[in-house]
Amino acid sequence: MIEAERIFDAREALAETLARDVADELDRAIEAKGRATLAVSGGTTPKLFFEKLSEIDIPWSRVSVTLVDERQVPETSERSNARLVRTHLLRNKAAAASFIPLAGNPDAARVAAFDVAVLGMGSDGHTASFFPGGDRLSEALDAESGKRLIEMTAPGAGEPRLTFTLPVLEQSGRLALHIEGAEKRQVLKQALEAGPEEDMPVRAILRSATPVTLYWCP
Ligand code: 6PG
Repeated sequence: MIEAERIFDAREALAETLARDVADELDRAIEAKGRATLAVSGGTTPKLFFEKLSEIDIPWSRVSVTLVDERQVPETSERSNARLVRTHLLRNKAAAASFIPLAGNPDAARVAAFDVAVLGMGSDGHTASFFPGGDRLSEALDAESGKRLIEMTAPGAGEPRLTFTLPVLEQSGRLALHIEGAEKRQVLKQALEAGPEEDMPVRAILRSATPVTLYWCP
């Protein structure tokens, strides 16, 4: 469920605060267990957040960065989330972090539990690669599937995808939902109403016991 809403007038302030909050959480995890794992989403929204986070001084050499989901394209493709993270996050101070790609990485499913996972949301109500009409959507949302990382194809997804499943996201130490714009605010409002998770799969996160902090600006 949404435990807290952090609303901002502008995307610069949102990106700075989200970056600070994520860095503080990673710092706490490193203090507690010597390491931290961050999972981020792709798409267009997180770029500024990535750039702000890359500049914050934490023990990045003790941080593993991975993706919540990935488009199954080469890293040279503009559509690659790995390319997005390598370009905008794994630079400056954060260049010292280790990166765990999903595409072509047989070990990706064995990544440690996420200390922080930052989710986005599409205007169709998807999050991660939990797309309406996804061929393995019910498996992705099934608490008993035993699956951690699965392939997904869906009408609205473009390329075939790889996505961590709902149980993996729910095990995160901290979940953030980062969306921007009036349209997505309206989509979130609709997702918070009653209705099937299959229609708006972000509902599975919103109805989960795992607390989510919403970060939004117009
Ligand atoms: C992806 C993301 C996905 C994203 C939403 C929102 O690979 O596309 O992981 O879940 O968060 O599609 O994308 P935008 O930020 O581009 O609206």
